[in-house]
Amino acid sequence: MDRIRERLGLPNLPEIYVESNINLLLRRAKENRTVGIEEYINTGGYSALEKALKRMTPEDILVLVEESTLRGRGGAGFPTGRKWRFILMNPKPRYLICNADESEPGTFKDRIIIERDPHLLIEGMIITGYTIGAEEGYIYIRGEYPAGYKILEYAINEAREHGFLGKNILGTDFSFDIKVYRGAGAYICGEETALIESLEGKRGHPRLKPPYPPQWGLYGRPTIVNNVETLSNIPIIVTYGRYFMNIGPVGFFGPKLFPISGKVERPGVYESTMDITLRELIEMAGGIKGGRKFKAVFSGALGVYGEKDLDIPMDYSPKGFGGTGTTIVLDETDCIIDSLLVIANFFHHESCGKCTPCRVGTYEQLNILKKFKEGTATRKDLDYLKHIAKNIPIGSICGLGYSAPQAIVDTLEKFHKEFEAHLEGKCPAGVCFK
Ligand SMILES: Cc1cc2nc3c(=O)[nH]c(=O)nc-3n(C[C@H](O)[C@H](O)[C@H](O)COP(=O)(O)O)c2cc1C
Ligand code: SF4
Repeated sequence: MDRIRERLGLPNLPEIYVESNINLLLRRAKENRTVGIEEYINTGGYSALEKALKRMTPEDILVLVEESTLRGRGGAGFPTGRKWRFILMNPKPRYLICNADESEPGTFKDRIIIERDPHLLIEGMIITGYTIGAEEGYIYIRGEYPAGYKILEYAINEAREHGFLGKNILGTDFSFDIKVYRGAGAYICGEETALIESLEGKRGHPRLKPPYPPQWGLYGRPTIVNNVETLSNIPIIVTYGRYFMNIGPVGFFGPKLFPISGKVERPGVYESTMDITLRELIEMAGGIKGGRKFKAVFSGALGVYGEKDLDIPMDYSPKGFGGTGTTIVLDETDCIIDSLLVIANFFHHESCGKCTPCRVGTYEQLNILKKFKEGTATRKDLDYLKHIAKNIPIGSICGLGYSAPQAIVDTLEKFHKEFEAHLEGKCPAGVCFK
């Protein structure tokens, strides 16, 4: 029974598989319940904060984070230490924002930390605040996570009552507090500058960059934006110190969460080191459902992998899987073009409309894919699709526009035969033209 969810009037989380072969980020989160502050402390929680505040300088922690090779888990994989070093060049007051907008299709890893082990994130934010010289932190959580919002508010109050948040934390001269802000259901508000605009009470439109948030962020002040999973790594790094560099492959140390959905036997969130391959990850999730044949993987909405890619590592190397680690698995009964249509619909719906190539291009690519599904597409449509896919990123100012055609580009390269078959009136999976 989940006493905290019951107290907050929340239904239980749906049952999904949450498994780990290293027990770091998911150490306390494998059971389907929220870990309260007593349990968190009794299992070693907040000892990293005590170590950080009482035995380490901000520079000690920063050097450790740089050496840890930690990369942002929000998608871009930017080195966290480098970002933090950058903000120190700019004057106080500085702000910390946790990006909990998690809106990409198939992505539900941050939700598991928020709803099951919220103090891991809170502890990570306090240590980060201390390191970057920020006294105020914000969590921007997607509007469709009402339970996560309530749980975070509850856990932040617990942390305040125990003296981990507020003035003079643990008797030191460091003060830090966290506010939670709810988004209103727009994917674009996960883009860090749109998020900042939204947090300031404005329409969630991305800003032109540079300047980047560590120079000019919330209310024009230097700001660090980090993902939930990135920040949750910080207590682990501080606890393990240099031993953290024994976890996983060189250059990509530490744990990674992989949300897996689609045609696998056991969909859920899996934790592993990043030397695991895509094939091994699918096996970890029980393999392809019903013993059917593998077809493809969508890495969220941002790319497509085929049979030849199954042995790539799930790391941030140029050939690695990278991104958020989101893995949506398709089997032989799925049509890749039908699946692309879902992604194209998503981008058309979520484009904020600020840049014409993104606003119009996402609409056009959706319409062409609809024609492929209906069986009315011509070779001219295929050429036009290629043209649009090439040009949307050129005229776009943010990551949504850069990535909107990426799954199409990958599919054109890796599954070109499927487009050809549809032009000839055949859907290999027997899904389209109905
Ligand atoms: C359209 C769009 C949506 C995004 N959504 C998220 C999100 O939900 N969560 C997130 O952490 N990062 C998201 N990002 C990436 C953020 O802009 C930013 O890079 C990230 O929060 C930085 O944190 P990290 O360095 O810890 O990864 C998104 C980017 C784009 C372009
Ligand atoms: S690229 Fe698309 S989502 Fe990004 S600012 Fe331009 S129109 Fe908006």
